[in-house]
Amino acid sequence: MTKVAVWCRHEGDNIIGIGQNIPWNVPSDFKKFARIVSGHNIVVGRPTYETLPPKFDKEKIFVLTSNPEYEVKNPKLHQVITNLKMFKDFAEDLYISGGAGVYQQFMEGGSKLIPEVIVDCIYHGELQQIEGKPVDISPCIEIMHKKYLQVGTEYEEDNVTTRIFIRKGEFVDQSVLKNIIECIIHH
Ligand SMILES: NC(=O)c1ccc[n+]([C@@H]2O[C@H](COP(=O)([O-])OP(=O)(O)OC[C@H]3O[C@@H](n4cnc5c(N)ncnc54)[C@H](OP(=O)(O)O)[C@@H]3O)[C@@H](O)[C@H]2O)c1
Repeated sequence: MTKVAVWCRHEGDNIIGIGQNIPWNVPSDFKKFARIVSGHNIVVGRPTYETLPPKFDKEKIFVLTSNPEYEVKNPKLHQVITNLKMFKDFAEDLYISGGAGVYQQFMEGGSKLIPEVIVDCIYHGELQQIEGKPVDISPCIEIMHKKYLQVGTEYEEDNVTTRIFIRKGEFVDQSVLKNIIECIIHH
């Protein structure tokens, strides 16, 4: 089934976070992210999970952590995963939603983990000055430029450009692409 990575990075330096936070506030971009991933299987790293707003409590989320005792917010829908390899033979669509460590492991994880589709959002504005270590996804962007082709048009909204990339030589389920495009243009 289809694996989709969805991220929003800062133009130029590919920063996606500082410390635990995303250093910009573009509500339309976050809403678009929520529309794309909602109702699907979502996978996030534990720090990213802890920053998700309460509306995500109702989504099906896989939380990657090395701590098997980690307590999720909604045990009916959220599941702790301690071994990323379990996604190699995952039978359903999967929306890879960060952060940097998680994106990178999927992008570098070989043919059974690398996403078929990337929703690449680029924020063109200024970064907020917040305390913490910048987190960037430059290694993922290098792989994206080598192994993927951009499809369709670019979408601009509130200083964010959204583009869709497909892995070269990959057959992609058209219904997945259609859903993503509808989520991008319907606001
Ligand atoms: N702009 C965007 O689109 C976007 C999207 C998402 C996140 N972010 C930002 O990204 C930053 C967080 O990124 P990050 O790289 O620091 O953290 P992360 O990718 O969210 O999570 C890393 C953590 O996930 C767990 N983990 C990862 N791989 C694992 C594996 N193979 N097996 C078991 N556990 C695994 C570990 O948790 P334990 O420590 O519990 O073992 C690890 O410390 C934040 O600033 C966040 O705001 C930005």
